[in-house]
This record gives sequence, structure tokens and C-alpha cells, in this order.
Amino acid sequence: MDKTKIIDGKMVSELIKTKVAAEVIKIQKKHHRAPSLTIIQIGDNKASSTYIKNKKIACENVGIICNVLTYPVTMTEAELLNLINQLNHDSTIDAILVQLPLPIHINSEKIIHRIITKKDVDGFTPEILGNLILGHYDLLPGTPKGIMLLLRHYQIELAGQHVVIIGRSNIVGKPLANLLINASATVTVCHSKTKNLSFFTKQADILISAVGQPKIITSEMIKENAIIIDVGINRDHDNKLCGDVDFENVLPKVKMITPVPGGVGPMTIAALLENILYLYYQNNNL
Ligand code: GUN
Repeated sequence: MDKTKIIDGKMVSELIKTKVAAEVIKIQKKHHRAPSLTIIQIGDNKASSTYIKNKKIACENVGIICNVLTYPVTMTEAELLNLINQLNHDSTIDAILVQLPLPIHINSEKIIHRIITKKDVDGFTPEILGNLILGHYDLLPGTPKGIMLLLRHYQIELAGQHVVIIGRSNIVGKPLANLLINASATVTVCHSKTKNLSFFTKQADILISAVGQPKIITSEMIKENAIIIDVGINRDHDNKLCGDVDFENVLPKVKMITPVPGGVGPMTIAALLENILYLYYQNNNL
């Protein structure tokens, strides 16, 4: 495999984690309290459990306290709103993360909006997303932030480049599109209702896929020398982790590409750790 083409999210995330860990040691010495994250999980979605486990391990490896509160799928919206009220007022908690997706009887938007902005580690509340559109980046949602950090690390030029994003979620596509516009890229956002997807993907200098379907992006759909960022975390026929992009198939044609695993995933977690640290400083007026 041509290693020079690989955008190594694992390696870049390790650099960030090392910095965060050093910062946490300093904080502990000076302020005698480690930063703390509380994660809420409702139900037992298998993918969510894996993501949460990874987040908890990452926190503990850098000295951040991570408490995971798990509730049965029968928890009501009112109970969850109540819980968030309590956590909002708990001064020992710097950051709150409600793992999505939530069960369908719970209105996710209502829940996210209940998290007090100064503890919104995901950056999903309206104030943070509004600031993002305006170019004020105090805190950014994890996956878009992780992708921007990765592009910056590899000094990938954005100004004037045509970036095509597949996916318009509030978590990835929408915030990412705005960050890239603010970085002077020309941005096209495709989604499930886009007609003739290939027409758009073939024009991309940088293609970012956040679809969630295994290996749907193939060599015929991309331009020669494109840069590919794969946000998908899927399972193939053999139950092996894979992205939205058919990695082996596109590799000869691309300029650079993120692997799955080891690309965007670890960067999302590194961005989360940075966000927890940021909230700790904010909440303690440091
Ligand atoms: N589910 C998938 N990605 C995310 C994320 O970044 N944050 C939360 N809270 N839930 C998710």
C-alpha cells in the first residue's frame, strides 16, 4: 500500500492526546480537580456502546474523568430532561454528552437544547452552531472539528477548492459545510435526495463522505488525484469495519485518503478531549 497517500488520523490524534494529557497534569497540580465528562446512554444500541466505550477509554488515558450513565430504553423524555437539569447544575461536571441516536419516543432536539451551552461538549446547541456559521469558533462539534484539524495538519489547501460533502446531518454535513465555506472553499452538499450523485462527486477536489453505507464510493465516481475524507464507520459482508469509500478500489486514483479505521474516527475523539478541556477552562474562569 502507498503509505504516502494515507491521511493518518490515528497518528494526528495521538499528537493531540499527548498535548491534552500534559495539560490535564498541569490542571490537576494547580486546581486539584480533573476535568470531567458525563455521557448519557439510553438503551443499548450496539454501535453507541462501542463509541461510548472508546470515548471513556480516551478520556481516562489522558486523565479526564468520564462517567457513563446508562438508562433503559423505556426512560421517558421528561425523565431525561430532568436528569439534564440536574447535570447542568452540578459544578463537578464540565461537559455533558447525550449519545445519539435516542429512542424514537424522545425528541432529540428538545434534549440537546436542554443542555446548558457552557457544558455542550458536542457543540450541537443552537448558540454554538449559530456562532460556527458566523465564524466564531470557541468550540466546534467533534467530527467537523476533527476533519478540519486533519486537513490543517496535512496542509491541504482549501481556498478555491471544490469540496463535495455527501450528507447533510446537523452533526457532520451542515457544520462542516459552513466551516469549509468560511475557509474559502467552494462547497457542494449532496444527500439522499440528490439526483445523479456521481455528477457531483466527480467534480470534487476534496470529497467528504458521511453516508453510512459500506463502500458505495468507487473509483468511477471520483476525479483523478482527488483527496478523500471518509466519515463512514460501517461493517462489510465479512463484518469487518469499513468506510463509505471502497478504499482498495479508489487508492490508485486518489491523491490522499483517510482509512477506516484510523482516519476520521480517532480525530473525532481527540476533538472531544480538546472540547472537554476548553469547557473546563471556561467553567472555572481560567
Ligand atoms: N452519535 C454519533 N456521533 C455522535 C456525536 O458526535 N455525538 C453524540 N452525542 N452522539 C453521536
